[in-house]
Amino acid sequence: MSPARISLVVTEVTELVPGVRGLALAATDGAPLPSYPPGAHLVLDVPAGDGRPRALANAYSLTGENVEPLEYRVSVLRCDPATGAAGGSAWVHALEVGDKVEAHPPRSLFAPVRHASRHLLVGAGIGITPLLSHLRSHARWGAEAELLYLCREGLGAHVEDLAALAGESVTVLHDRAAFTALLRERLRDQPLGTHLYTCGPTGFMDLVHLEAADAGWPAGRLHAEAFGTADLDPGEPFTVSVDGEELAVPAGVSLLEALEEAGHEVANLCRQGVCGECRVGVGPGSGPVLHRDLYLTDEDKAAGDCLMACVSRAEPTDDRPAHLEVIL
Ligand code: FES
Repeated sequence: MSPARISLVVTEVTELVPGVRGLALAATDGAPLPSYPPGAHLVLDVPAGDGRPRALANAYSLTGENVEPLEYRVSVLRCDPATGAAGGSAWVHALEVGDKVEAHPPRSLFAPVRHASRHLLVGAGIGITPLLSHLRSHARWGAEAELLYLCREGLGAHVEDLAALAGESVTVLHDRAAFTALLRERLRDQPLGTHLYTCGPTGFMDLVHLEAADAGWPAGRLHAEAFGTADLDPGEPFTVSVDGEELAVPAGVSLLEALEEAGHEVANLCRQGVCGECRVGVGPGSGPVLHRDLYLTDEDKAAGDCLMACVSRAEPTDDRPAHLEVIL
């Protein structure tokens, strides 16, 4: 079952840097909003229309004060219209002060580790947003933290906010080679007990994790916040059997959407393969699963008994069409 919604109103709109819009959202009754852990995200309900065939639920990292805030703040990059016009970013960029928005209460998948002796934060592009929330909390509580931020010159959101919070503990770089060299150096000179947090495009996070592994960091001290899978291709059509019923899932429609349309209730939150809410069982009548989420581990996928309905699909084989038996 999806959690209850919060009714919000847009109270401020700011163009932070070209292509990135900051929004402040307050409760419609003006009451303080629920607190949240640093690194949490807010999921906004994006209505259908303007090129979106159906409603979406898009997750955005919260960047403002996290303890009994009077407003939630998010910073949203407008996607390239060629790939993201049907997504939520165009809708967010059209919002104005006074517009009403429905949201799910904040959820956290990327909180700082309390017992860490030090926090190394590494972000790129709009991936800076959850790390800003971390840095805000570390500054408030006096935790040891350092942040490396790779962004294009003039396009780095929140550069001033970061400097105001942590001064010389923040390094902003515009050159990937220089960034990689500094990252290597920092990965090798951290005190024992440091945890690493990264957020940015997938290729960037892969680089950070590769460098960390090379420097001998154990996986348990690495933490990543993925953007989701918004740029996935529409996929091939397939069929599903569920509760004795057979459903067709056309290209461009997710299994989650097909199940909802057929009247099945499936818990969901991010609808981008990140949060783990929409996990459904896979029965023995299924063919191979095309896993496209960022949530399940390799072991989960190898076990073959579940999938994330918002992004994953069935795959055909040489001797049978793409088909899944789903257990709700
Ligand atoms: S709804 Fe979040 S992983 Fe599917």
